Amino acid sequence: MMKVMRHLLVPNKKVQDTLTEITKYDWLSKEHRIFSSEDGKSRLIPLSISADINLPNPLSDFEIIFSEGKPNQVIDTDWWNHLEELVGKNTVIEHQESWPSSHEFFGDMMIVRIDDSIKKYTTEIARAKLLSHPFIRLVLSDSGVMGELRIRDLKPIGARKNSKIYFENIPSELTRTKVSVKESGKYISCDPKIAYYSTKLQSERLETLRFAKELRKELNRPLAVCDPFCGVGPALSTLIGEEGLVDKILASDLNEEAVKLLFENLQRWDKREYPSESTRIQEYYDNRIVGLADATKLSDNPEYFGKWDLVLVNLPHRTIEFLPRLIPLLNRRNISLIRGRVIVAESEISSANEKINQILPPIVANKPKPELKIKRDYSSALRLCSFEAWIDKEAA
Ligand SMILES: C[S@@+](CC[C@H](N)C(=O)[O-])C[C@H]1O[C@@H](n2cnc3c(N)ncnc32)[C@H](O)[C@@H]1O
Repeated sequence: MMKVMRHLLVPNKKVQDTLTEITKYDWLSKEHRIFSSEDGKSRLIPLSISADINLPNPLSDFEIIFSEGKPNQVIDTDWWNHLEELVGKNTVIEHQESWPSSHEFFGDMMIVRIDDSIKKYTTEIARAKLLSHPFIRLVLSDSGVMGELRIRDLKPIGARKNSKIYFENIPSELTRTKVSVKESGKYISCDPKIAYYSTKLQSERLETLRFAKELRKELNRPLAVCDPFCGVGPALSTLIGEEGLVDKILASDLNEEAVKLLFENLQRWDKREYPSESTRIQEYYDNRIVGLADATKLSDNPEYFGKWDLVLVNLPHRTIEFLPRLIPLLNRRNISLIRGRVIVAESEISSANEKINQILPPIVANKPKPELKIKRDYSSALRLCSFEAWIDKEAA
């Protein structure tokens, strides 16, 4: 699966010194390889998801390029070799397109999707993954996100303790799924078995950061940000990390487990106390409103109505349906911004664009009209898209 990620564009002559510097911070993506720019004059060095957003000197001298990561051939070859040893060359060739050559890391866990056609080789897949990634404790198979809370259906398929590998009767201390992931320089507590979080959305979050900075410039003051489908809070982590960008935050979700993890995360990012259990939405500090809430009902509360400069809408299968209930949250005394994600069939993108433009209030004159941009495939027919809408201030 395509993974757009940050690369540092470094002139050939400076590659060695830069690599030494990147390695010092442990920011080189081990899963991806360095490759040449099109003109051959530079190299693109893949950065790991943990690397800070604002890189220190001398790394800050180089341009950051968002580009598809190219898999590290050594690890890749290793995985194919182990698999071939376990299932035989002919079986590898027979299902060539179906083997899970990609995966997602969560700390010391790895999540893989296993196609129905190769389910009977699940143990061999887990073993080949564990052998080619010696630092992984637990491999989980992912059968997709379920229900309103968008939680993944995860099952442990292999684990390791020291040099012993388990596939059945995995000891319970190895199947723990709560971990801390370092993303853009900040730790995020997450547990993919009970609350939605995906490391694959980092580039989306960095794009949201860019738009938020643009809005901050327009308004000339720190922003009030509303994230009503916030999960464990990764979008907020990126925004809070930027000095002077955000003042007030409303962060809420319908999932109790997500809110509990969100409190733990906010406590770390804000360096202030939050409850240790989830609670219904309430104000904790004069610039923090946090807790359990149904996003479609927030605007019924006069405390939340018309207060927010930036509203994030990250429930892609229902974004268009929920938009009318979310628009009233915007602060229409100035220009404001909605950033949303939508899952739609490729053939229906233009009608979805029309619908979005019909629902939204007037757009700021010098900004582009909201338009869905395809970010990646969701299934063979569906695409995961995102849009941003710069909403004009309401005439007095
Ligand atoms: C796709 S996840 C996104 C989570 C988070 N924004 C992120 O990027 O990791 C959607 C989230 O919306 C929450 N959710 C679903 N319906 C909701 C509703 N009506 N009100 C509030 N949250 C809702 C789910 O529990 C889930 O955490």
